[in-house]
Amino acid sequence: MVEDLKRKLLIVLAVLLLLSSAQAGGTDRLAGHHCTDFQTANLLLGSKLKVQFLLFTSSSPSCGELILANDGIKNSSFNSSLETKIIIHGFRALGTKPSWVDGLVHAILHTTQVNVIAVDWVYGSTGAYPSAVENVTQLALSISQFISKLLALGVSGTSIHIIGVSLGAHVGGLVGHFHGGQLGRITDFGIRIPVGHIDYFVNGGKDQPGCPRFISAGYKYLICDHMRAVHLYVSALKHSCPMMAFPCASHQEFLNGHCLDCVDPFLFSCPRIGLLKQAGVNMRKLPKEVEVYLMTSPSAPFCTHHSLVEFHLQKKRNRVTSIEIAFFSNSTKDTVKITIPKQQEMGKRLLAHRVPLCQINSVTLKYLSKNHFWKKDESFIVGKFCAAPLPLDSNRTMSCLPWNLTLPTNMDISYELPIACA
Ligand SMILES: *[C@@H]1O[C@H](CO)[C@@H](O)[C@H](O)[C@H]1NC(C)=O
Ligand SMILES: *[C@@H]1O[C@H](CO)[C@@H](O)[C@H](O)[C@H]1NC(C)=O
Ligand SMILES: *[C@@H]1O[C@H](CO)[C@@H](O)[C@H](O)[C@H]1NC(C)=O
Ligand SMILES: *[C@@H]1O[C@H](CO)[C@@H](O)[C@H](O)[C@H]1NC(C)=O
Ligand SMILES: *[C@@H]1O[C@H](CO)[C@@H](O)[C@H](O)[C@H]1NC(C)=O
Ligand SMILES: *[C@@H]1O[C@H](CO)[C@@H](O)[C@H](O)[C@H]1NC(C)=O
Repeated sequence: MVEDLKRKLLIVLAVLLLLSSAQAGGTDRLAGHHCTDFQTANLLLGSKLKVQFLLFTSSSPSCGELILANDGIKNSSFNSSLETKIIIHGFRALGTKPSWVDGLVHAILHTTQVNVIAVDWVYGSTGAYPSAVENVTQLALSISQFISKLLALGVSGTSIHIIGVSLGAHVGGLVGHFHGGQLGRITDFGIRIPVGHIDYFVNGGKDQPGCPRFISAGYKYLICDHMRAVHLYVSALKHSCPMMAFPCASHQEFLNGHCLDCVDPFLFSCPRIGLLKQAGVNMRKLPKEVEVYLMTSPSAPFCTHHSLVEFHLQKKRNRVTSIEIAFFSNSTKDTVKITIPKQQEMGKRLLAHRVPLCQINSVTLKYLSKNHFWKKDESFIVGKFCAAPLPLDSNRTMSCLPWNLTLPTNMDISYELPIACA
């Protein structure tokens, strides 16, 4: 996903919304422990970093335990035999707690038994974006010191996983650097160029479906695409539908059906967004900057399944042929357009659908023809339709409807698509 010019607009907006409140983070009691929440910074007074490390565990996922400086970690519920997830937020225009933190903490603890540390640097992250950026190195150093204390307790570097969002992603990268690349895993959101071992480009990595396209939508327009990364991640943890991605040279190549499996470099395993070990892939050695692509739906749970759809014309045509394909399940309809170039026999495309292919009951095909008064198009086309779910197997097996489908102009023709769930 991207960090883009919208950020600049965001700063402007932040300045317009200078109605900040000043109060210390709330303290609460739960099951005999003190619960500490994120701080709230006053834009005008905040000047120090005031980093807080809040521990969340499976037994109290809603109650942050403040880890005090020095030996605080020893005197806490931190369990050094479990893995540790460290969450780092980004720029906070208004000096408030990020609304997604609780959801992410819960989703992680719902999935796996670990220590979750939420890093609250609300104070240093507020104000103008450039001053928050200036705080990044100092913040990375204090997180790094915190990690060193964990290592001193006997925690292994490989059991530490940093999850950084937006500006927090840059912090995550720096912390990893300070530890000489010895930490277990870093998951960061939000940059256009590939920088990881695996780089996920969701819906091409730019505009996200379901996000407003016009500035009139205000704050949502500025932040929706960028923050989608967190919502996807939380969805990937909460739902069983796999958010599987495929190595490819570009989004366009992916949409055009040129990247259909994960043989290279992942030996037939496809990477998945979420907490699976090594993203669920087999690797002989760590890959570098492998770009992987996937599509999502516009709203939660976002997950889609990808299928290759093909149409083979019985006779090549002297014109471009467009066919709209729709997959129907009991509750969903997902569509895509296949384009067959002039003088070619076959056209193909990826179709992203919200239920597995085996739950698709029927497919409709519609031959889209443009009739101009000076040049009439043919009134029907004849051909064959085939589909296969990604990743394709090594034999490239596709399921086809029987030959010689006749598609009249601009009319939906529906067929049953019987594919049993394995
Ligand atoms: C950290 O951020 C605060 C608040 O925006 C800013 O006033 C301060 O100058 C920054 N500190 C450093 C060391 O850059
Ligand atoms: C932390 O230390 C205090 C006093 O030293 C003790 O009362 C408390 O139970 C300790 N808390 C934990 C979680 O070990
Ligand atoms: C720490 O986690 C391990 C593994 O789940 C568990 O067996 C152990 O009881 C935990 N220790 C404490 C003090 O909760
Ligand atoms: C779809 O609806 C039919 C008829 O109501 C039902 O038998 C079938 O189980 C449903 N399929 C799914 C996947 O829900
Ligand atoms: C591929 O085809 C071969 C020969 O027909 C068959 O033995 C094998 O099981 C097929 N593999 C898959 C993954 O379908
Ligand atoms: C499809 O149509 C062609 C030409 O009309 C014919 O030769 C062929 O047998 C048909 N195939 C099937 C499976 O009906």
